[in-house]
This record gives sequence, C-alpha cells and structure tokens, in this order.
Amino acid sequence: MRCNRFFLFWVVAFFTATAQAGVFNTKHNLGSTGLNAASTFSGTREICVFCHTPHGGDGQAAAPIWNRNLDPTGFATYDQMGTTTLDAGVEPVGSVSLACLSCHDGTQAMDAVLNESGSGRDVPGFSRGLWVGQAASVEGRIGPPDVVTNLGKDLTNDHPVGVQYSGGGYSLSNPAGPGYDKDFNPALSEIMGASRVWWVNTPGGTAAFEKSDMKLYTRVGTREGAYIGEQQPYVECASCHDPHVDYNPTFLRIDPVGSQVCLACHNK
Ligand code: HEC
Ligand code: HEC
Ligand code: HEC
Ligand code: HEC
Repeated sequence: MRCNRFFLFWVVAFFTATAQAGVFNTKHNLGSTGLNAASTFSGTREICVFCHTPHGGDGQAAAPIWNRNLDPTGFATYDQMGTTTLDAGVEPVGSVSLACLSCHDGTQAMDAVLNESGSGRDVPGFSRGLWVGQAASVEGRIGPPDVVTNLGKDLTNDHPVGVQYSGGGYSLSNPAGPGYDKDFNPALSEIMGASRVWWVNTPGGTAAFEKSDMKLYTRVGTREGAYIGEQQPYVECASCHDPHVDYNPTFLRIDPVGSQVCLACHNK
C-alpha cells in the first residue's frame, strides 16, 4: 500500500512538472502565477500575452506576432565606444533585440501591450499592479515599484548586438563564410522555408539547428564589408538567450558553466 502511494506521488509530481515546463517557471511569466512578486496583482493568469498576441501583432517586429510597441530611437550602440579591436559592422538596434529592449531598455511599462487578454484592447484590471518598467501604468498601481533589469538606451557597455558574426564574410552569395577568421568558430547555415538561417553549433547536439545552438539573425548589412546590401548573420540578444527556457540560468541557450556560452562563438 505504502509503496503504491509513494509511486502515485511521483507519477503526479512528474505530470505536474511536465504540464508546467518552460516559460511558466521563469521570470518571464508575468501572469499572476509568475515568479515576480509583482505578478500576484497582474489580473491575468495568461503568460504569452505580455509578448505575443494571436491577432493584430506588430507586423514589423522580428519576433512572431509581437504584442508590444518597438522604439528604435535613442540607442547608443557598441561601436560608438570606439574600441579599436572590433572587426565587425554594427547595425542600428533592430531585429529580435528590439523586441527584448521593448521591456529591457526600461522605457515602457510591462503592461504596455497592443492587445490585452480578454476581448477588446483595454480590459479593466489587466495587469493592475505589475509595473515593472519606468513608465507609469495607466491603471492604478498597487504592486511594488519597478523591477525590470534595465540595460537602458546606452548599449556601449553591453556585449555587442546587431553585430556581424565573425567580422563579416557570410552572406547569401557566400553562405559558408570566410574560412579564415580563426577568432570565431564557423557558422553553419541551411535554407529553412523561404530563407537562409545561420547558427553556431554548441557541443552535445547534432549538426542540425537546435534551440541549444547559438542562433544568428539574418539582416541586410548596411555598414561594413564586401556584402553590403545582402542578407548576413548577426548576433542579437536571442543568440545567447531563449526567452522561454527554464532549464538554464538567465534564459541562456546553454549552461554557462566553464563559459561555454562565450566559447561557443569565440575561439579563445
Ligand atoms: C518575455 C517575452 C516572451 C514571452 C512571455 C513569451 N515569448 Fe515566445 N518569443 C519571444 C521572443 C522574443 C521570440 C523570438 C525568439 C527567437 O527568435 O528565437 C519568441 C518566439 C516564440 C516562438 C517561435 C520561436 C520558437 O522558439 O519556437 C513561439 C512558437 C513562441 N515564442 C511561443 C510562445 C508561447 C506559446 C508563449 C507563452 C506560453 C510565449 N512564447 C511567451 C518572447 C516571449
Ligand atoms: C514583457 C516584457 C519583457 C520582454 C519583452 C523581455 N523580458 Fe526579459 N524580463 C522581463 C521581466 C519583468 C524580468 C524579471 C525581472 C528582471 O529580472 O528583470 C525579466 C528577466 C530577464 C532576465 C533575467 C532572468 C533571471 O533569471 O534573472 C533575462 C536574462 C532576460 N529577461 C532576457 C530577455 C531577453 C533576451 C529578451 C528578448 C529575447 C527578453 N528578456 C524580453 C520582462 C521582459
Ligand atoms: C553574447 C551573449 C549575450 C548577448 C548577445 C546578450 N546577453 Fe544577456 N546575458 C548573457 C549572459 C552570459 C548573462 C549571464 C551573466 C551572469 O550570469 O553574470 C546575461 C545576463 C542578462 C540579463 C540578467 C542580468 C542580471 O544582472 O540579472 C539580462 C536582463 C540580459 N542578459 C538581457 C539581455 C538583452 C536585453 C540583450 C540584448 C540587448 C542581451 N542580454 C544580449 C549573454 C548575452
Ligand atoms: C553568438 C556568438 C557569440 C557569443 C555566444 C559571444 N560572443 Fe562575444 N562577440 C561576438 C561577435 C560576433 C563579436 C564582434 C567581434 C568583432 O567582430 O570584433 C563579439 C564581441 C565580443 C567582445 C568585444 C570585442 C571587441 O573587439 O570590442 C568581447 C569582449 C566579447 N565578445 C566577449 C564575449 C563573452 C565574454 C561572451 C560570453 C558571455 C561572448 N562574447 C559570447 C560573438 C559572440
């Protein structure tokens, strides 16, 4: 009997854990079941709504059916620091980085979404109280003050984003890349759907693209190198972070132990 009950406990525990895997268990769950103290007051148990909407998302965003306004203005990028060792061109802040920065530059409230949960655009009680982010919420704030880790608009003191991988050389017409920049591990690429995607393999997986590889983001180069005007791979926030994962610290695509995250790209 005792044995059976013990077994049942583990079965239940297993299924409970399975049902709640992923973003549910992370600081990106801003619904009332979330880990942030302020979430208790958020007035919704939905999770995805703070970033995605099923209909009427921002069509310009480089993140799918994106539910927030993007503000590309006012950023200082890494190259503006004047480092002499940087080989690569740095594009203005864009791609998926701009989606992350719609919260992490600290200028917009967490509840500033295009479509709130429920029907209609402005639902009373939606995220009353969350309000992490510097801008005041339109509805009465009842939660603790701003708590979002805020990189600000000055990105000169952060790892470069919008930066060409490997100092450039990869492009649609030269997908296999330079083959000479020994500072970087080679990027792989493949046609997926209608476009070519690039990534850097990490140890342990297969040669195919996986979520645990360092994902590179395709942009049209405007700044540097032989392939201006062509699609090329860039490092963006979500190259290193996957905003949904609960199995590594700080949403990293791989465990950072031994600086594996850094060594995935840098041959040091
Ligand atoms: C904090 C913001 C945030 C939350 C919350 C969030 N996402 Fe995402 N999601 C993103 C971003 C940013 C991307 C683009 C990432 C990329 O390029 O890999 C994305 C990409 C995706 C993708 C396509 C790429 C992939 O990884 O499969 C799917 C599907 C997706 N999200 C589903 C969801 C669902 C379902 C939820 C709720 C359970 C959710 N997301 C919650 C930010 C979020
Ligand atoms: C809807 C707003 C929102 C968006 C969009 C968003 N985040 Fe967050 N993020 C938060 C909040 C709120 C927290 C929890 C408070 C904190 O630690 O800043 C957080 C925490 C984090 C943390 C720290 C996690 C920890 O365990 O300490 C990382 C890393 C992070 N976000 C990266 C990203 C990246 C990368 C993207 C884009 C792919 C992104 N976020 C998009 C709101 C957002
Ligand atoms: C080259 C890889 C890389 C890129 C690109 C990157 N990050 Fe990170 N980020 C990391 C690592 C690694 C950590 C964990 C640092 C630590 O544990 O000390 C981290 C930590 C964070 C944290 C948590 C900081 C804290 O003190 O809790 C946030 C928030 C964050 N990143 C957001 C972003 C955003 C937003 C972008 C894009 C503008 C971005 N990251 C781009 C690698 C990266
Ligand atoms: C997804 C690939 C990728 C990952 C992962 C990555 N980097 Fe980078 N990193 C780059 C690229 C590309 C550049 C631009 C370098 C250049 O062209 O000179 C860069 C630039 C840098 C620079 C500035 C170089 C300069 O000349 O100013 C430093 C320092 C750096 N990375 C350290 C790190 C550390 C530390 C980590 C781990 C936390 C890390 N990187 C993870 C791709 C990556």
